[in-house]
Amino acid sequence: MPSEEVAVVVEEEFQQVVTPWEVSSKNGEKINYDKIIHQFGCQRLDKSLIDRVQRLTSRPPHVFLRRGVFFAHRDLNEILDAYENGDMFYLYTGRGPSSDSLHIGHLIPFMFTKYLQDAFKVPVVIQLTDDEKFMWKDNLSVEKSKELARENAKDIIACGFNISRTFIFSDFDYVGGKFRENSLRIGKCVTLNKVASIFGLKGEDHIGKVSFPPVQAAPSFPSSFPHLFENHQNLRCLIPCAIDQDPYFRMTRDVAPKIGYNKPSLIESTFFPALQGESGKMSASDPNSAIYVNDTAKSIRNKIYHYAFSGGQDSIENHHKFGANLEVDIPIKYLGFFLEDDEELEHIRREYGAGRMLTGEVKNRLIEVLTEIVERHRRARAAVTDEMVDAFMAVRPLPNMFR
Ligand code: TRP
Repeated sequence: MPSEEVAVVVEEEFQQVVTPWEVSSKNGEKINYDKIIHQFGCQRLDKSLIDRVQRLTSRPPHVFLRRGVFFAHRDLNEILDAYENGDMFYLYTGRGPSSDSLHIGHLIPFMFTKYLQDAFKVPVVIQLTDDEKFMWKDNLSVEKSKELARENAKDIIACGFNISRTFIFSDFDYVGGKFRENSLRIGKCVTLNKVASIFGLKGEDHIGKVSFPPVQAAPSFPSSFPHLFENHQNLRCLIPCAIDQDPYFRMTRDVAPKIGYNKPSLIESTFFPALQGESGKMSASDPNSAIYVNDTAKSIRNKIYHYAFSGGQDSIENHHKFGANLEVDIPIKYLGFFLEDDEELEHIRREYGAGRMLTGEVKNRLIEVLTEIVERHRRARAAVTDEMVDAFMAVRPLPNMFR
């Protein structure tokens, strides 16, 4: 069987770097997703697969599928084949709790996983890698990292997960028992050379970093969750994630057959661009590069007006004459993620692209759309109590997880 391992640090010729810790392109160019697919060796999520999801779930495909936000996959067809034959699967996703407040880009995998949970009626496990963030962030203590995990759990629960089909866990609390047995089985199959090349680790890096990847790999295997999947040892796993997490799961898929397990399948998204433009993902260190889920309506308006990169022309005359450059326009890009009405989006693209609609009008529509999402999230999060967090995080069977 050919190894799936490919170095992630994209070569000079590709002019871009995509690892779980760094996403950047030379000269601030747009990330080229075709090159990523080629370099990582995943497959493009094409129309026929999306149609198949629609058929199997008897509901319209999520806007993130229709618009190509989730654009790549590994063996999604195998999951769908199995499902078609009456075999279930489970979903696995996660978050590294590095900050108190999430930006709207962070919600994307969770909104999408919740849609998959409802559409396929399958269980979800959500890993909070508080251990990972403790090791990668210089000034983060164990205690603070655990605290952030619980706070982030509230934002995740606010996305609407069904408690009878969802288990959320923090690594500091849950890693042990069968989970740890699996992470050690995985670790034993990966050499230091391999982990260094997959993750770009150097001799100066501390050894905590080397030990972590098997912990992110272990939830891909059902036996890591005996309270859920004791009687489902061959259950397949589908992982929705942003494409920067692919290195972890390349490693996981490489190891799986060596320890007698199924390879997990993946469904992978593009990055959510910064307000300033599309050269990478948003940075938590610049508050004006992103819309946060706790931004006020006023601050959303202010950020969109002042920082959202516009493809409109510099004068109204030129705008009428040449139209907006939709390829670089951030308001259009954001509407593509969050404006659900396909016809309205098409209308805006046409009118704006032809110069009949002005940047201000497009920005106003985006402000409405984002304010509504953020308001909805704020209300949902305010309703999440500590007891609910405990309930989602309790190690318990989920007797109705496939219904
Ligand atoms: N490493 C991810 C992060 O820093 C968190 C994570 C853990 C994850 N398991 C995952 C993300 C599975 C996607 C899928 O955010």
